[in-house]
Amino acid sequence: MSQDGRRSARGLIRPHLNDLPPYGAMESVAAVAKELGLDVSEISKLDGNENPYGASPKVASALGGFSGYHLYPDAGQTAVREAVGRYVGAEPEQIVLGSGSDEMLGMAATLFLDPGDALVNAPPTFGMYEFLANIHNARLVTVPRREDFALDLPAMERALDEGAKLVYLASPNNPTGNAVQPDEIERLLGHDAVVVIDEAYAEFAGESAVGLMADHGNLIVIRTFSKWAGLAGLRAGYAVVPTDLVEIVWRAKVPYNLSVASEQAILASLDDAETLLENVRLVVEERERLRQRLSATGWVRPYPSAGNFVLCEVRGIAARDVRERLRARGILVRYFDEPALRNCIRISVGLPRDTDRVVDALSEIGATVG
Ligand SMILES: Cc1ncc(COP(=O)(O)O)c(C=O)c1O
Repeated sequence: MSQDGRRSARGLIRPHLNDLPPYGAMESVAAVAKELGLDVSEISKLDGNENPYGASPKVASALGGFSGYHLYPDAGQTAVREAVGRYVGAEPEQIVLGSGSDEMLGMAATLFLDPGDALVNAPPTFGMYEFLANIHNARLVTVPRREDFALDLPAMERALDEGAKLVYLASPNNPTGNAVQPDEIERLLGHDAVVVIDEAYAEFAGESAVGLMADHGNLIVIRTFSKWAGLAGLRAGYAVVPTDLVEIVWRAKVPYNLSVASEQAILASLDDAETLLENVRLVVEERERLRQRLSATGWVRPYPSAGNFVLCEVRGIAARDVRERLRARGILVRYFDEPALRNCIRISVGLPRDTDRVVDALSEIGATVG
């Protein structure tokens, strides 16, 4: 009991949580706009790998016309599982949906990680995997990528042979943009461990590991409607799981975890997949124009990307300063300066006018450095 007589729950917190590093979430665009004295529409939001074309217009109609918000969702997710199964080329039984792929990544950790179990992580990569290791009090086995961001497969295989249970791999990888090759995934699948392939950006790459599931019972593929279908704000993701895990997944999952709004939005998006995939094509085209224009600056060095973002090494100025100077102009990007990723910025692909704006701003910034 504290001096004022109030009880506190602070001392009862699971001890490992006291050491959690804070999760580096994005700034709120409304707060940034307010600080800069701009309207939200004047911000080029290129820090979240979101879809500049937004959701399908069919989503707004479906949500506006829906009359069942007062009822709980179908706990069995029947209609969405069928639609998603058809879309992704898997049996509806293998599909489980949730609040973004983040929730599904967490579900994989819940299924396999006891405290002390080892999880293999290959940075630089999406921060969620390390976050999940920390939350579950798992042992993080870090196997850094090579200079060109390819996986260090022998080291990863060694970690699996030494007893690691789970490996998360984003393909294409965020923030580096490169995809994992099917033969690399198959090598990892040859070990007594679970391989989770995070395909948040798969539509932009046009590749998927779902086909490997027919021959491998230790592969889970996780995907999302956030990026290609523009539903990041609604939170709609899914996992494709091996058939013999399905029953336990449903016993371990929070019931009603997919809201009716997400359910309706997913069905409407799949109904309009052709339009959305055309938007994906436009983003891919714009990505290449962005890369070309960035290369032409001379001091911003874009890496190849199979996603909807471009990682760039910046020369002659700190990446953090570049990020700040862009931010002051209403352009939001991410920056990285850590052992695995020195002096880089990551620019999400926006509309053509965003490309022009960010490249023009970078040219101005470049003119002020030697
Ligand atoms: C590799 C990767 N996986 C998953 C996610 C999370 O996606 P969702 O919005 O479906 O939770 C992101 C988001 O940026 C990501 O980059």
